[in-house]
Amino acid sequence: MSPSTQTSFQIKSRERVADHGEVFTPDWLVNDMLKLVDREVERIDSRFLEPACGEGSFLAPILLRKLATVRRQYSKSPADYEFRAVLALMSIYGVELLVDNVCACRERLLTLWLAEYEQRLKRPPSAECLATVHFVLERNILNGNALSMKKVDASAQDTQEPIIFSEWSAVTGPLIKRRDFRQDELLRDQDARNSLEQAKGELSLEYVPKSPVREFPPTDYRKLPEAES
Ligand SMILES: C[S@@+](CC[C@H](N)C(=O)[O-])C[C@H]1O[C@@H](n2cnc3c(N)ncnc32)[C@H](O)[C@@H]1O
Repeated sequence: MSPSTQTSFQIKSRERVADHGEVFTPDWLVNDMLKLVDREVERIDSRFLEPACGEGSFLAPILLRKLATVRRQYSKSPADYEFRAVLALMSIYGVELLVDNVCACRERLLTLWLAEYEQRLKRPPSAECLATVHFVLERNILNGNALSMKKVDASAQDTQEPIIFSEWSAVTGPLIKRRDFRQDELLRDQDARNSLEQAKGELSLEYVPKSPVREFPPTDYRKLPEAES
């Protein structure tokens, strides 16, 4: 794994360890764990959620591995490379209680994404593309409580607002379909699916997938921030 993905320490302070269990996972362990899902990590659109993501110990190397796939498959066309690199970023999600970690995680992913992009295309992204990258990072790396599934305030206290994830899916050409889901409903949905699987068909299949809380028309990926308003 590249040393550039590593945070330089595993503990920031004793208080933070005691208050929030904040101990970052070392690279060697992240690496070993990611080997268990090797194939998935390399797929550009396989979705990963790190529920207490800290500064993104897992998300950073996952992003790099996905971008390596983009480089192998789409280097010939700058337009294809850019679109797929944005899709790779869109597939990575994190929830973190402490706002400074959220900022550090977004910054880390942004730095890796930009370095990879500029190395490949020998130029920075357009202002529109960069705005989308920032927008996706803000929507995907969330300041929240992964247990209560609520957003939190600057003091890490729960608010009344539920955590909402955006699902981004490629449609055709440069178009992306965005659908927003509440995390608590997604997990209840997953529980229902699991119990149906365990029941091996003995339950009547009344499983109804959860509906999004918000849905957007397919939009050019460079116009996604504007579609929000
Ligand atoms: C053991 S660290 C792991 C960080 C990162 N996943 C890693 O492997 O390096 C736990 C992280 O979870 C955060 N955290 C603690 N309770 C949380 C909660 N209820 N919801 C979201 N994040 C939480 C802490 O602030 C800390 O950054």
